[in-house]
Amino acid sequence: MKALVLNEVRQLLVLQERPSPKAGKRQVIVKLKAAALNRRDYWITQGLYPGIRCPVVLGSDGAGTADFREKEVIINPGYNWGHRQEVQSGDFKILGMPDDGTFAEEIVVPQEQLFARPKHLSFEQAAALPLAGLTAYRALFKQGRLQSSQTVVITGIGGGVACIAIQLAIAAGATVIVTSSSQAKINKAMAMGATAGFLYTAEGYASQVNAEFGPIHLIVDGAGGDGYSQLIDMACPGGTIVNYGATAGIAEKLELRKVFFRQLHLVGSTMGSPADFSAMLDMVGKHEIQPVVDEVFALSDGNKALEKMKVSSQFGKIVLRVSDR
Ligand SMILES: NC(=O)c1ccc[n+]([C@@H]2O[C@H](COP(=O)([O-])OP(=O)(O)OC[C@H]3O[C@@H](n4cnc5c(N)ncnc54)[C@H](OP(=O)(O)O)[C@@H]3O)[C@@H](O)[C@H]2O)c1
Repeated sequence: MKALVLNEVRQLLVLQERPSPKAGKRQVIVKLKAAALNRRDYWITQGLYPGIRCPVVLGSDGAGTADFREKEVIINPGYNWGHRQEVQSGDFKILGMPDDGTFAEEIVVPQEQLFARPKHLSFEQAAALPLAGLTAYRALFKQGRLQSSQTVVITGIGGGVACIAIQLAIAAGATVIVTSSSQAKINKAMAMGATAGFLYTAEGYASQVNAEFGPIHLIVDGAGGDGYSQLIDMACPGGTIVNYGATAGIAEKLELRKVFFRQLHLVGSTMGSPADFSAMLDMVGKHEIQPVVDEVFALSDGNKALEKMKVSSQFGKIVLRVSDR
């Protein structure tokens, strides 16, 4: 079978012939039709991820067919969550490093990671859903406790997680405000139902958000960095900022006085439990949510896909077509 292999960090992925994986006890072979990229794949290629082991096939997201209860499947990429809903176990790992991932024609996965492909989604849309959908679901509803009457600010809307977060939050009846570095992406988010959008690159944009919408009860952020302090200014007293990523780096200018005096809740969120995954799928099915696919590349063009993620020109998910068969 063909697989896109990372043989060494900071090197291009190489399309190689590899032996087909063999299924062990309670494992299933999935013949992949589509896979999707996450920022994690890019971080790993750059050597910016803990515990990198090469050679490895990257890719956490995939959809395909399997000789299993459900013939057409998607894969929950979060393995070994454990028994506590509030946090993953020490054995938690993400598909696509250390275990070989979905940028391949075939993959072996534990049975319990397989779920039926949502019927309203193509294989490419289905591949775009698991990691981002799960992360967005938990950040909004578990960690952020978003209610239908509330307003949520979702930052960096071009991102894969942020893009599905808009759809989930709107489906829940919330008012959604987005931020982006691109007016074109804001326009796209508003076409999807966001109420307003602000350029986070504009000076003093947080005060503008507050002037138009008042102090914000919930902010969901995947960027961190210096811009995080603006989120603290934007939040209402007693409000919550859920953070699931740090694309923009360390939040060095964190003013703790503002945090404690205004009783803010700074909450972390990582992927989600199997229960979160099922709840996310129920919601996606009920509301027939279609993840936004920015562009589909052939598996052999995986390096071009990673290059697009590097420059963040995407709106939504970057997908790899693995097989048409
Ligand atoms: N904890 C978890 O379980 C988990 C799960 C998934 C992802 N993550 C992390 O979350 C982050 C986003 O992941 P993703 O896959 O959605 O990535 P992505 O698709 O690569 O998102 C990139 C987007 O981040 C936004 N961004 C960049 N700098 C920003 C800044 N200073 N302020 C606000 N937004 C900024 C940009 O939005 P605009 O183009 O709109 O400006 C860009 O399009 C990554 O750091 C990733 O590692 C964590």
